[in-house]
Amino acid sequence: MTILDTQALSPIDLMERHAAHNYSPLPVVAASAEGAWITDIDGRRYLDCLAAYSAVNFGHRNPEIIATAHAQLDTVTLVSRAFHSDRLGPFCAALADMCGKDMVLPMNSGAEAVESGLKVARKWGAEIKGVPDGQANIIVADNNFHGRTISVVSFSSDPVARNGFGPFTPGFRSVPFGDTAALARAIDDNTVAVLLEPIQGEAGIIVPPDDYLPDVRALCWEHNVLMIADEIQSGLARTGYTFACDHWGVVPDVFLLGKALGGGVVPLSAVVADRDILGVLHPGEHGSTFGGNPLAAAIGSTVVAMLQRGEFQARSARLGERLHDRLRGLIGAGVVAVRGLGLWAGVDVEPSLGSGKQICLRLAERGVLVKDTHDSTLRFAPPLVITEREIDWAVDQFAEVLQGA
Ligand SMILES: Cc1ncc(COP(=O)(O)O)c(C=O)c1O
Repeated sequence: MTILDTQALSPIDLMERHAAHNYSPLPVVAASAEGAWITDIDGRRYLDCLAAYSAVNFGHRNPEIIATAHAQLDTVTLVSRAFHSDRLGPFCAALADMCGKDMVLPMNSGAEAVESGLKVARKWGAEIKGVPDGQANIIVADNNFHGRTISVVSFSSDPVARNGFGPFTPGFRSVPFGDTAALARAIDDNTVAVLLEPIQGEAGIIVPPDDYLPDVRALCWEHNVLMIADEIQSGLARTGYTFACDHWGVVPDVFLLGKALGGGVVPLSAVVADRDILGVLHPGEHGSTFGGNPLAAAIGSTVVAMLQRGEFQARSARLGERLHDRLRGLIGAGVVAVRGLGLWAGVDVEPSLGSGKQICLRLAERGVLVKDTHDSTLRFAPPLVITEREIDWAVDQFAEVLQGA
């Protein structure tokens, strides 16, 4: 190990040499950000149409959230769960209330919330449903994305997420997304939960048929199986409602939340459910040193208060129509299909125009940041503070990239 002159190398070179290569980022180096805009180290501005995979739903450095963070930094930031803090109880109460549930299990990352939800479901199965310990199964959907821990990739259908990472956690069954009959066939006496993204995000913003989630809800009730909705990316106003499940009037037994819950400032995730489910956890059975820390809890409370006002949901619904209308206008002009709800759009681009990554690079050169999901699919998910004019400008840039201008 030599002592490096870090000044001599660019931030990208330093990443290339010293950071694990588990991402393949666009060559844009953010130095500051505000609202829907990111400024790079050379002072170039980019319209952010990814919003950190929906973690920045309320905009970069949202003033209300930043004010909360500053105030909390001046009081107390971390005590662990060995003691109480004056922030965690109010946060849990407010979040549970927003979800129409009794209790909250606070964690940090999305994958941790998913892992936690799986543990709760297994414990519920063993203690309440009466499934013999070690025999539980959980049903998931093909092409899911719930994170990248060992247990979570154990039920992924993406070879890149799995290859070389075995052995995997047993106890999962995967069925086609949107196919209620396949789900019904997969349920048996030892099924404790069905885990779904209400709209599959990383798969390309796949919206299920209208009867799917209501049918899943009914099946779960019929078979005494927990319906777990992973709303980590789809929730918290992204699709025009507080939860994507709201589009179909469905209330799952368990919500998994993350990303935007931390206001774009801290990692904060949660499992939210009624007492007869989350009450299966006892001291020592699960935990996290940082989970529900006072800084995160204070920010989470502000995020919940902002969501309770409804303005971000309304914005997403209204501006989402504009985004979808404009994107659908490009069908036949380089775009093959547009999917999604609210300010969340998956766009399939004519493959002959280049890979999704190549299109993203061309858009970045024009000052618009979007992210490819698979092959030729792009995802538009701007911060919900974006304006109609900014949407129009981003889609104009996209149209010109598609025309090769
Ligand atoms: C639906 C869903 N669940 C879970 C996760 C994992 O969240 P995290 O990256 O915070 O672990 C993601 C991340 O994109 C996601 O989209």
